[in-house]
Amino acid sequence: FFQEIPQAAPDAIFHLTAQYKADTDPRKINVGVGAYRDDSLKPYILPVVKKADAILFNDETLDHEYQPIAGQKSYTTAAAKLILGADSPAFVEDRVVAVQTISGTGANHTAAAFLKKYHKQGAICLLSKPTWANHKAIFNNVGIEVAEYPYWKPSTRGLDLEGMLGALEKAPEQSIVLLHACAHNPTGVDPTKEQWQQIADVMDKKKHFPFFDCAYQGFASGSLDQDAWAVRYFVQRGFEMFICQSFAKNFGLYGMYGIPEIGSWTGMINLTTGLSCLFLGERAGNLTVVTRTAQQAQHVLSQLEILQRSEISNPPAYGSRIVDLVLNDKALYTEWTENLKTMSGRIIEMRERLFEKLKQLETPGTWNHIVDQIGMFSFTGLTAPQVKVLKEKYHIYMTENGRISMAGLSSKNVDYFAEAINDVVRN
Ligand code: LMR
Repeated sequence: FFQEIPQAAPDAIFHLTAQYKADTDPRKINVGVGAYRDDSLKPYILPVVKKADAILFNDETLDHEYQPIAGQKSYTTAAAKLILGADSPAFVEDRVVAVQTISGTGANHTAAAFLKKYHKQGAICLLSKPTWANHKAIFNNVGIEVAEYPYWKPSTRGLDLEGMLGALEKAPEQSIVLLHACAHNPTGVDPTKEQWQQIADVMDKKKHFPFFDCAYQGFASGSLDQDAWAVRYFVQRGFEMFICQSFAKNFGLYGMYGIPEIGSWTGMINLTTGLSCLFLGERAGNLTVVTRTAQQAQHVLSQLEILQRSEISNPPAYGSRIVDLVLNDKALYTEWTENLKTMSGRIIEMRERLFEKLKQLETPGTWNHIVDQIGMFSFTGLTAPQVKVLKEKYHIYMTENGRISMAGLSSKNVDYFAEAINDVVRN
């Protein structure tokens, strides 16, 4: 029956990376994928992660055994505390459970699959317009229909609060509402505290279910606690909820790490280089669940374990060991917060440099949103045809919606990037 399988379109974000890699022009720039780069545009291995690697390699008590189905409790609890705060009433009342997932996407999937099985039949999931390209696919994949709530207001290049509240009000009761905990992807626009309160009011009234996606804790304000504000506020208000956490961005644990021969480890042979190399799968994420009672929490955990067992059996160990170590060690944790500041600080600097250059070039339009938006991304307002010209004429790769990952800019390419924007906007 394979002859009936149609060819699928390539993934919008990762296809851009492949095109960028194949481009031989030395001026090329990749502001497509949201992956942090240092000022030399090299992937950044956090110094604290390097330290954790060394500790793990010298730990002779570690082995390759199965992990518990829900992951190590020390990891899932530390991750849940990171987002909820250790003194959260939900912890005090013992109504938090969590399972380790395959990064943030896995958390979204596991949560969506659980909701399909147990949430009100036919409930829809409301996504912000726009949102991360993968959200719709994740929900559709488990058979949950999605609808959109207005989020981005082109005229102000800010939040369309009125449109959002109106859509939440109109949606059927008990809808699932996907909210970006901080550093909204792709717009870089987050609600203010007052706006979050209004959002919570409508959600409460309509008995909507808050589904937080939190992929950028530490990237928005530079403070882990501040970036968790919205989630903690919803907990305080008494909501039950899911929170999907990714450690890809804030730990720089995106995928796979190949370490050439370490100590007595012989590892595997790297087929490309021929070097002896140890490959470590990472993809560390967490699905944190806040319920209304301690008993409900245990029931939910037991069902999540059943689900997890049928899907991945046991989560991968390596990435979670790094996160576990760092979150549970005071000195390493402090160092991690410094590393986070290095990353968020460079992104803020790039925002300022880009803004200044566009101002200097007197590029038509207002560009304040470049510095006002937060997190990894900026939603430039560039149109699809302009994005196309940027790719074809300037070898600049960005998603069609005009989103740019600030981490793809550096002190060396930001002027070229601004000049290219200036050109496409004028012509
Ligand atoms: C992005 O939005 O670019 C990242 O979150 C990478 C991804 O998985 O799409």
